[in-house]
Amino acid sequence: MPIQRMRGYVGQVEVTTFLMAKIYVYGAGSIGCYIGGRLLAGGSDVGFIGRARVAGELRDQGLTLSRHDDGRWHVSREQIDVSTDVASAAAADLVLVTVKSAATSTAAAELANVLRPGTVVVSFQNGVGNADVLRAALPRQTVLEGMVPFNVVGRGPGVFHQGTAGELEIRQAPAMQPFVDAFRKAGLPLIQHADMVPVQWAKLLLNLNNAINALANRPLKEELSQRAYRICLAMAQKEALALLKRAGIRPAKVTPLPSSWIPRVLSVPDALFERLGRAMLTIDPLARSSMSDDLAAGRATEVDWINGEVVNLAQRLGQTAPVNERLCELVRQAERAAVRPSWSGETLLAEMRAAKRAPLALQQRT
Ligand SMILES: NC(=O)c1ccc[n+]([C@@H]2O[C@H](COP(=O)([O-])OP(=O)(O)OC[C@H]3O[C@@H](n4cnc5c(N)ncnc54)[C@H](OP(=O)(O)O)[C@@H]3O)[C@@H](O)[C@H]2O)c1
Repeated sequence: MPIQRMRGYVGQVEVTTFLMAKIYVYGAGSIGCYIGGRLLAGGSDVGFIGRARVAGELRDQGLTLSRHDDGRWHVSREQIDVSTDVASAAAADLVLVTVKSAATSTAAAELANVLRPGTVVVSFQNGVGNADVLRAALPRQTVLEGMVPFNVVGRGPGVFHQGTAGELEIRQAPAMQPFVDAFRKAGLPLIQHADMVPVQWAKLLLNLNNAINALANRPLKEELSQRAYRICLAMAQKEALALLKRAGIRPAKVTPLPSSWIPRVLSVPDALFERLGRAMLTIDPLARSSMSDDLAAGRATEVDWINGEVVNLAQRLGQTAPVNERLCELVRQAERAAVRPSWSGETLLAEMRAAKRAPLALQQRT
């Protein structure tokens, strides 16, 4: 259990008091409620900051958490400390930021007004730039990159399910060490890295499928069972891998197969993929990517923080990333559309191939 030591005097006698460290989750949604709930179930002192709807649900129902391997945890409503007001985070020793990427700059500005100097802030978000946004606004705090490898879905008020396996990864830092034991006790051991860039990019390569799944408008299992969609993903990944190689970034191994092999496996015929890619197809038959859920709910997606980061990397290197750029455009169009599109595998693949040819066609015309 994380503890803070406080020294003081009673008369002339020095007294040491041990206090449990306070952990806050900023952005009580799927990831925040799951990780925060597991820490609470593991004995930590956790507070949640979230929207009024979620706050009401947690106060009424507590938290019920489950995992694909039958793990079950329950936190009663009496144990829940939840607020819609960021001011409560003034008491935090550790803050876990779990908002979607579009909300990071607001989170950073709000936290900057309340956090004490020295507070540790971990971004448990996808993408490669969220920790930098937090760090820029929080120069007197320690901001660290984190990575959540598993997926979590909400299954009703206060009910969250971890659908896939994996362990949390985080940047190693002395300031984080007092909290490491809290995660271990909660059954969420932290894998610590001196450099998180290769880990974040490896996760981002997998997340490139979120846009394809959102455009397909069908469950992940159904989408990944169709070769045409898988080739779209392979094209997006190959484009990113080539840029990462130029940039000297070698993605970490976050799946049984190294990142560079995945496009090849994705491209094999369906019957062979059923055997080679069995792990990728072992998903809840109804699960969709969070980007698909965002489109369905009319929310802004994270496409600019995922496929958009490949485009940004290309620009920094003086290159282009036409496949990921086109995926960004199509998702942005879908965000604005009155009727949500459902791209077939063949049509989307034709679109990706046309995008890939386009820069060359432009060069040939000039
Ligand atoms: N879910 C997964 O399986 C998964 C897995 C790995 C990584 N991730 C990453 O983890 C991050 C969080 O994803 P998520 O799925 O947990 O998102 P989520 O379910 O949408 O949770 C985020 C919550 O934060 C709330 N929020 C936003 N701004 C806030 C503010 N200023 N004050 C209080 N609450 C605020 C959101 O409310 P509103 O919606 O009303 O803004 C939402 O309830 C993302 O970067 C995602 O890519 C997710």
